[in-house]
Amino acid sequence: MAIRKLQLAFFIIYTISSLHHSCRAQYSPPDSYLIDCGSRTNTTIGQRTFLADTSLSSSLTTPQDILGSSSSNSIPSSINGPLLQTARIFTGPSSYTFQIQKQGRHFIRLHFFPFSYQNYDLATAKFDVSTQDVVLLTDFTPNGKSSALFKEYSLNITSDTLVLSFMPSQNLAFVNAIEVISVPDNLISDTAQVVNPASQYSGLSEQTLETVYRVNVGGPLVTPDNDTLWRTWVNDQDYMNNTKLAKDVVFTGKINYMKGLATPETAPDSVYNTAAELAMSNTSNAAFNMSWQFDANAGSSYLIRLHFCDIVSKSLNQLYFNVYIGSWLVLHDMDLSTLTQNSLATAYFTDYVISSDNIAQSIHVSIGPSTLDNVLPDGILNGLEIMQIITGSGSAFTVRSSGKKNLWVILGSVIGSVAIVIFLVILACMCMKKKKKMESQTSKTWMPFSVNGFTSLSTGSRTSNGTTLTLGPNGSYGYRFAFSLLQEATNNFDENWVIGVGGFGKVYKGILRDETKVAVKRGNPKSQQGLNEFRTEIELLSRLRHRHLVSLIGYCDERNEMILVYEYMEKGTLKSHLYGTDLPALSWKQRLDVCIGAARGLHYLHTGSAKAIIHRDVKSANILLDENLLAKVSDFGLSKTGPELDQTHVSTAVKGSFGYLDPEYFRRQQLTEKSDVYSFGVVLLEVLCARPVIDPTLPREMVNLAEWGMKWQKRGELQQIVDQRIAGTIKPESLKKFGLTVEKCLADYGVERPSMGDVLWNLEYVQQLQETDSGANSEVNSINRIVELSSHVHHVGSQESVDLGEPGTSYAHNEPDLSDVSMSRVFSQLIKAEGR
Ligand SMILES: *[C@@H]1O[C@H](CO)[C@@H](O)[C@H](O)[C@H]1NC(C)=O
Ligand SMILES: *[C@@H]1O[C@H](CO)[C@@H](O)[C@H](O)[C@H]1NC(C)=O
Ligand SMILES: *[C@@H]1O[C@H](CO)[C@@H](O)[C@H](O)[C@H]1NC(C)=O
Ligand SMILES: *[C@@H]1O[C@H](CO)[C@@H](O)[C@H](O)[C@H]1NC(C)=O
Ligand SMILES: *[C@@H]1O[C@H](CO)[C@@H](O)[C@H](O)[C@H]1NC(C)=O
Ligand SMILES: *[C@@H]1O[C@H](CO)[C@@H](O)[C@H](O)[C@H]1NC(C)=O
Repeated sequence: MAIRKLQLAFFIIYTISSLHHSCRAQYSPPDSYLIDCGSRTNTTIGQRTFLADTSLSSSLTTPQDILGSSSSNSIPSSINGPLLQTARIFTGPSSYTFQIQKQGRHFIRLHFFPFSYQNYDLATAKFDVSTQDVVLLTDFTPNGKSSALFKEYSLNITSDTLVLSFMPSQNLAFVNAIEVISVPDNLISDTAQVVNPASQYSGLSEQTLETVYRVNVGGPLVTPDNDTLWRTWVNDQDYMNNTKLAKDVVFTGKINYMKGLATPETAPDSVYNTAAELAMSNTSNAAFNMSWQFDANAGSSYLIRLHFCDIVSKSLNQLYFNVYIGSWLVLHDMDLSTLTQNSLATAYFTDYVISSDNIAQSIHVSIGPSTLDNVLPDGILNGLEIMQIITGSGSAFTVRSSGKKNLWVILGSVIGSVAIVIFLVILACMCMKKKKKMESQTSKTWMPFSVNGFTSLSTGSRTSNGTTLTLGPNGSYGYRFAFSLLQEATNNFDENWVIGVGGFGKVYKGILRDETKVAVKRGNPKSQQGLNEFRTEIELLSRLRHRHLVSLIGYCDERNEMILVYEYMEKGTLKSHLYGTDLPALSWKQRLDVCIGAARGLHYLHTGSAKAIIHRDVKSANILLDENLLAKVSDFGLSKTGPELDQTHVSTAVKGSFGYLDPEYFRRQQLTEKSDVYSFGVVLLEVLCARPVIDPTLPREMVNLAEWGMKWQKRGELQQIVDQRIAGTIKPESLKKFGLTVEKCLADYGVERPSMGDVLWNLEYVQQLQETDSGANSEVNSINRIVELSSHVHHVGSQESVDLGEPGTSYAHNEPDLSDVSMSRVFSQLIKAEGR
């Protein structure tokens, strides 16, 4: 059985490698991982030491991971040459996991040099590289040139771990060296000027950027050791349109850095103290532009950063010039003296975003003289960086193994840039690894595809025999079900195979050719609302993954179908286990486990990504149970992304299910996470009482469960309405705490309700109270105390998540999930401490 994972943790490295720089650089990165992949020894390059990764991984190395070294002398004699002599070779999906000490922007640098090792010709490798959030490289082939390739990405890491995954598209993947380094928070600000139409761009802090050009204009190569953030800056000659029009200038004085402007980390002195200046600038003949040209991908947007430092003027307000990006004048009669508050030799930079529709095949940057009358023509540029904005929220990468099977789910997503339509697509891939021969069958089950937007989904070329289509530079990738396969899997959408019916359509049980059970949700194609929900769900589920959220496996949009394929949840809905069926009653403990699981799923939705996601339709019918009664939240069709930081709510038409609706949301049509908390409170009552939330057949005061339940809770007699089948088994203190939790969730005003995280803690506590023997803990006013502890627990949880992935654990979660183990461990300590 192929076990295809490689989880490496590098706690130690960061302490080591940050020491080396303290003598020179001011900035000391909280995270700094330097790894010479495949090397058995540490490698020192200049002042930096790249660690061998063998010692850390030897016990984890699987047959797929080969430590290769090049015997030939073909290794480039470049500064990074020593790193390129070894590589780690992957023949299956593998990943490196890094503990992140400080969330925020980081550089990820990858070094590649294809060589031959034994019977592996690395030049034939073709693979994807992704983090848990974004695809960095798709079908990457470092071949042909047999020269070294270097990739640098800058991304905002918002979790406690970074999982860097390598996925061979054919047979091989490899990497020679990896750097993961924190960068100062202010290096990339959130906003920039848009080149055309002139406006402001915001949202950069969430974007992943790939450095495509970093140029020390008019100056020499700056190597990592000479840069404040270990960057490489190259000379600009190769990009200059006409080198005769510019002259290099060098400054030997001191470069000033002014608060609020560039810092030494923005670019080092060696960038600011050299520049290109218009030739003949001391005459009035300099009536031309100097310009630089860079290759670019049509269809991508770029961030362009220009560095200036007036190292040529002898006195203030002498230098005026124009700056053009493409044919657009972005800076008119720029006067650096004024911009740097009347100082010379002061570092300054500006950022521009040029959108994909303004790019043909290249980006031009030009500096030209001002047209002002009383100044001599002149102009300078000191440095230039061009970063491609990697659109799309990328891929999520999940490993699941249960029993004999290893199930890989890869979700990728793309933001389409076509006209108005912004659409995220996911793909999911699943490979059954029972037997080798299964593999070829599996690959036919899945069809990779490429998209740039929803429109191309319906017009793009398609094949149904599993051909791999080539992907654009921006396209993410993934798998889409052929309609015929789903027909086959569901016995041609056999009505007898229906396992659920909802507003969106019917849900069928399905069995794929490899015998995997799936749930196939087929939307009604005529419903426009359905289309929106279809998109929402694909978009959300492709970004999210969690043990307590139902996983999306794939989808089908052939023939205007809107079909979503999910993991099959053997035991159906929570609702069906509470009432209205012949299923045996769940015990109190089982019910609490289910509530805790669902609460975790919702807590993750609310806090797991940059913007909170509000489920909007929390109900017992949307909490599904797998064969082990593990609860997973499903049905994200109505979900909305939560408020931005500066707002406190999302205003929206009221949707959701009657009986669960937050009265405040209903009154004010303002949606917050607390609306989900309210609905969840109703679910808790439903679990306790095992009756429908609205039952019109009952006497009037009893119709609405939330009202009825609160009435008894406020009287302190909740036990009166507990499901008779389990009433005798619930410990009074456990019930009391449960009742208080429900009451808080159902508070009239959102601000009074606890967060989902608090609810989760309280339910854990309820469970502990049920399980502890003594009644000594009856004084249960724990919310605050527990919340204080939660940051600590997070930490414990994230450290333990490193060695996930033993067969039997079902998911590798890289998100800060509150792991079961650590949580109950801390909890039992808490309880014990209290008992004393
Ligand atoms: C690499 O360097 C680190 C820190 O200096 C050290 O702990 C480790 O043993 C070295 N490994 C090898 C293989 O020399
Ligand atoms: C990273 O993203 C988070 C959430 O979007 C944001 O709050 C933070 O400011 C970002 N950090 C940087 C350095 O851009
Ligand atoms: C880089 O640093 C070395 C010494 O550390 C120095 O000799 C060299 O001139 C520097 N290069 C630049 C471009 O600053
Ligand atoms: C580049 O130079 C050529 C002539 O060498 C000129 O025709 C062209 O306009 C220049 N492009 C830019 C952007 O200045
Ligand atoms: C302009 O500068 C060049 C050298 O940079 C010099 O040779 C020339 O004499 C200068 N011309 C004038 C008019 O100052
Ligand atoms: C410099 O280039 C811009 C944009 O291509 C153009 O509009 C402007 O006229 C040029 N200036 C000179 C002096 O050639």
